[in-house]
Amino acid sequence: MRLTDEQKGMLDGGRGEPVQVAMEMLCALGEIYGAEELIPIKSAHCAGLSLKSHGIAGMKWAEDMAAKGARVVVPTTMNVIGVDRSRDLGLPADWVEPQMRIEKAYEAMGCFGTSSCVPYYYSFLPRFGEHIAWAESSAVVFTNSVLGARDNREGGPSAWAAGITGFTPCYGLHLDENRRGDILFRVTVPLHGITDYGALGNYVGKMVGEKIPVFEGLGRPSTEELVYFGSALASAGGVALFHAIGLTPEAPDLETVFRGKRYEVVELGEKELAQGYDNLTSGKSRDVDFVALGCPHCSLNQVAQLAGLLQGKKVKDGVTMWIHTNMAVKAMAKELGYQKTIEDAGAVLTQDLCVVLGNPEVLGFKTMVTHSPKMAFYAPGGNGLDVWYGNEEKCVRAAVTGRWED
Ligand code: F3S
Repeated sequence: MRLTDEQKGMLDGGRGEPVQVAMEMLCALGEIYGAEELIPIKSAHCAGLSLKSHGIAGMKWAEDMAAKGARVVVPTTMNVIGVDRSRDLGLPADWVEPQMRIEKAYEAMGCFGTSSCVPYYYSFLPRFGEHIAWAESSAVVFTNSVLGARDNREGGPSAWAAGITGFTPCYGLHLDENRRGDILFRVTVPLHGITDYGALGNYVGKMVGEKIPVFEGLGRPSTEELVYFGSALASAGGVALFHAIGLTPEAPDLETVFRGKRYEVVELGEKELAQGYDNLTSGKSRDVDFVALGCPHCSLNQVAQLAGLLQGKKVKDGVTMWIHTNMAVKAMAKELGYQKTIEDAGAVLTQDLCVVLGNPEVLGFKTMVTHSPKMAFYAPGGNGLDVWYGNEEKCVRAAVTGRWED
């Protein structure tokens, strides 16, 4: 890989040990993927920050790097963590304390401790064509597909290294030729709400793996529907980029998206949508004890909708309801009264927390209800929870009655 004099100096240790370590990581990655150069980035997003991902060894490594003077040189945000910093949710102290040490180490390196998988909802909005190095699969698929930024599915370490150096290896989705579509999906069924988009995203994600799906007939989805659609594609498969004709910025028409490539055409109707719902449902008992919404983290619009559904109701004794968002949205929700409505109903508006990474199973939950295709995908294997998947109205009804109804 060709390096500039500045980059060679970084690799040789001229800018200190953390920069050298970061540059070694990026050069190794570039060699593996056949990159010819390192290119400058505008921003980075570090993920894998939970104690589940870092472990104690990772925590000590991050503290060591911070103590040795590691500092990010581009705006670098942090992904969700495994605790809610604003309150005690009853998670064990030997989980909370090291998790907070990880958070503080990254903040000491100059990362924004806003801890969310949706930093584009508050200030950090990559622009069309901009090269970035973001980890967190749901954020990567959104920035690539909906915003038209250029990003590979970074891991936590490579996103950190990019933030520290300001560079990333130029391969994969940074290059025009790798952004062409692979398979065309014709959607013939109308989609309503984020759970329809999530179910269809799950079905397609399982089918395409890491290929680039192109959609016709996706309707006029809201931002939140696109976020949940992408998160389903990225979790059930390894999708980092999709195109939707007439909807996403690199897809004005089929010719532009495929650029001469031969492609298969697949129809998606009622049957495929129903299969997506089935894939995401693993519930056995209809008695539920845990309702978790907001994966990816809720927008203010979603929080307002849930507050409206919970207004004047009470979460049933024995059921825990968590609605997940970040500190920015939660601060607005507090000012605007949505948090009070939610919490008067007995639910909790959490901050920073990712339920999948937050170990909810240690609190004894068995059967979860969610509107999130990503949480429904991971929670059975990752948290040992049985899951019912359905829209917000059904989820709130389950929270109030303690029963899942189709
Ligand atoms: Fe975000 Fe965690 Fe879901 S990172 S997308 S809340 S699994």
